Amino acid sequence: MQDLAGKHIVLGLTGGIACYKSAELCRLIVKAGGTVQVVMTEAAEQFITPVTMQALSGRTVYTSQWDAREPNNMPHINLSREADAIVLAPCSADFIARLVQGRADELLSLMCLARPIDRVPLLIAPAMNREMWAHPATQRNLMQVAADGATVLGVGSGWQACGETGDGRMLEPAQLLEDITAFFAPKLLAGHKLLVTAGPTFEPLDPIRGITNHSSGKMGFAIARAAREAGAEVTLVAGPVHLPTPRGVSRIDVLSAEDMLEATLRAARSASIFIATAAVADWRPATHSEQKIKKDGSGKTPALSFVENPDILLAVAKSERAQAGKLFCVGFAAESENLVEHAKAKRERKGIPLLVGNIGPLTFGQDDNALLLVDAKSTRELPRAPKLTLARELMTEIAARLPDWRV
Ligand code: C5P
Repeated sequence: MQDLAGKHIVLGLTGGIACYKSAELCRLIVKAGGTVQVVMTEAAEQFITPVTMQALSGRTVYTSQWDAREPNNMPHINLSREADAIVLAPCSADFIARLVQGRADELLSLMCLARPIDRVPLLIAPAMNREMWAHPATQRNLMQVAADGATVLGVGSGWQACGETGDGRMLEPAQLLEDITAFFAPKLLAGHKLLVTAGPTFEPLDPIRGITNHSSGKMGFAIARAAREAGAEVTLVAGPVHLPTPRGVSRIDVLSAEDMLEATLRAARSASIFIATAAVADWRPATHSEQKIKKDGSGKTPALSFVENPDILLAVAKSERAQAGKLFCVGFAAESENLVEHAKAKRERKGIPLLVGNIGPLTFGQDDNALLLVDAKSTRELPRAPKLTLARELMTEIAARLPDWRV
């Protein structure tokens, strides 16, 4: 997806072994439709060569403030004026200290200082040894660069090149791309707490077996990501799926519908938007055997009976908070035919302001989907597109309805 189409990123590399990951980050930005101008410090050149970065960005790399290629001999001015953002990845402890002091004795720090501060954001991906990261000087400097207007993207945790384990690793290139993309998204849901359920549920029969369905969770995870991009604080209640948690989203893993109900009701107490995308099992086995149900060789099959699961969406929609107009509820409907009629009827039955219909067999497990939005006044089709694109459009639709949904 061309998430960064039209964006020009100045990618600054400072001295750290994480420079090897910057090559991949550069590639990912270009693949996402952005253009990249690389600037490297002398220390960064010890870890990776400008040749590599030139090949991946398709532009010659700048390393010196005395670069005579610029007719006015002012690369620090020219490069920063063209940028939609400056991304420092990796940003070393030393470089953070330089930013705090407003140093300007080499090109990259000079360019950061000279950037138009209101127009060209500065994003920092720190990378260093865990002791350096935890040191009060580094933490103090990070607070100061953030107070001076930079966005600190955080660090990863784990095995470090020095052999130690802890915080301070540079985020992975894909995580950085997700953060950079989110940074540019309009903050339509700033100040909102959004709760979303996703995936199937698993209803145990015995310790080995259970009943579930083919929901992949992709739509709900895309919604969680799009909501975070739009500035919401996001809680994702996920059934058993193998999908990575979107950046900046807090995830609660559950198994059965009853677990999902409990986790959802708890999180709904402080949420302002609830989106139910989970394919909750309608029924669960009436009894749960503590031990494996065994074949006895007689050819007799076990007599299974079921009870109906709680309707999570209905329970949330009926809650005091939703009824008081403090929680905007959105439901999904997976149908196999007559989508418009079923979706309209389901919206009324659940008593919610917005219902999103889709055709079950055309969405389960797929990366693409098509949606039908039904509210009290109108219906609107969102044509087939990647789930993340649809999720972003859905956030815009929800944001537009929030101010007057009770009217
Ligand atoms: O009633 P039906 O299952 O068709 O409704 C689908 C909508 O209700 C979806 O938003 C789904 O997440 C939600 N739902 C629920 N709990 C259930 C069944 C459905 O939250 N037990």
